[in-house]
Amino acid sequence: MSGNCYEKKHVLITGGAGFLGSNLAHALRAQNATVTVVDNFHPDYGGNEFNFTGLMGSTGFNLEKGNVTNQKLVCELAAEVDFVFHLAAQCSHVDSMSNPLLDLDFNCRGTLAVLEAVRLSPRKPVYVYAGTRAIIGAPLQLPATESTLPNPVDIYGVNKLAAEHYGSVYARVYRVPVVSLRITNCFGPRHQMKSGKYGILNWFVSLALQGKPIKVFGTGEQLRDYLFVDDAIEAFLKAGRFGLQLKGQEVTCPKAQLAGTKNPFAVFNVGSGKGIPFVSIAQKIAEKAGSKLEQVAWPADRESIETGDFISDGTTTQAGLGWCASTSLDQGLEKTFAFYREHLKKYL
Ligand SMILES: NC(=O)c1ccc[n+]([C@@H]2O[C@H](COP(=O)([O-])OP(=O)(O)OC[C@H]3O[C@@H](n4cnc5c(N)ncnc54)[C@H](O)[C@@H]3O)[C@@H](O)[C@H]2O)c1
Repeated sequence: MSGNCYEKKHVLITGGAGFLGSNLAHALRAQNATVTVVDNFHPDYGGNEFNFTGLMGSTGFNLEKGNVTNQKLVCELAAEVDFVFHLAAQCSHVDSMSNPLLDLDFNCRGTLAVLEAVRLSPRKPVYVYAGTRAIIGAPLQLPATESTLPNPVDIYGVNKLAAEHYGSVYARVYRVPVVSLRITNCFGPRHQMKSGKYGILNWFVSLALQGKPIKVFGTGEQLRDYLFVDDAIEAFLKAGRFGLQLKGQEVTCPKAQLAGTKNPFAVFNVGSGKGIPFVSIAQKIAEKAGSKLEQVAWPADRESIETGDFISDGTTTQAGLGWCASTSLDQGLEKTFAFYREHLKKYL
């Protein structure tokens, strides 16, 4: 399958006012898709109308303010679309522990509401889910493949795993084409910069640009797999295309076999495949802005849900989606700093 599969198609992005969702909205409009975003602009997350600069008010872009747990609303929206990218979520590991019922509501009930809307849609849309490395949690194998046994260490990870499995059930029982991406830690433009509860690299950039010290918990020697947002968006676009192929049942991929080879379900890791010591990235960010690093003891609420080293294996994704990360950490940081040097105030 070649060519632009989004040309003149209608796409729904849940959580589309946030970091990944809004970057995806821009990329899809550039492919001439009609984009509808549904977002509840919950103050704890990254929903920001500034992210739609250049899109708001233009033809082919619609914004609907609402909650994905509102079944009637999402059913109405999904009735008219060819693709659903489901990104709306409670995103903070720490908050998932302090407010587990909110996490359950948004990440599980919200996902079921969206999947029901997809199932009932006469257009039979492709469904792409924004999964996470948190599903694997503290990895029992490194690099972690799609077959590594999930070992989530917080409620966020458990509920995102449940949400991924909901997709697998809808694929098996209702033949909904489902692609779940297990994304590592992303950074880049259009991320909220007001809180360090998630999106830690962006948070460090925020502190550095404000001349505030950057606090690293413990030694910071744990390895992390960081991904620049443009690479993540490319993976989403390829996942939607892969979903179309699943719909036509033209392909199976190794991971699709988990749900049975005939089921239109696939899971792909989306990461850089490189493990970098956390402290070295923090150092790099501090140096770029002439800021300082402080090493402090782990707060108990963070240490108890720390996963240790994480590196994502991209073999299946390369084979199935033809995707691998192409932006270096330095290039990504350069673009991130350039964006926030100009726009930081809009994100605080
Ligand atoms: N950014 C990353 O590093 C990363 C990594 C792995 C997975 N993910 C997943 O990607 C998705 C997007 O994350 P992000 O980093 O863009 O975060 P974000 O906070 O910038 O975006 C999330 C958006 O979802 C909206 N939202 C939250 N709950 C909602 C609800 N109940 N109804 C409607 N809208 C709701 C928020 O208002 C926000 O605009 C999430 O599902 C997250 O779990 C992100």
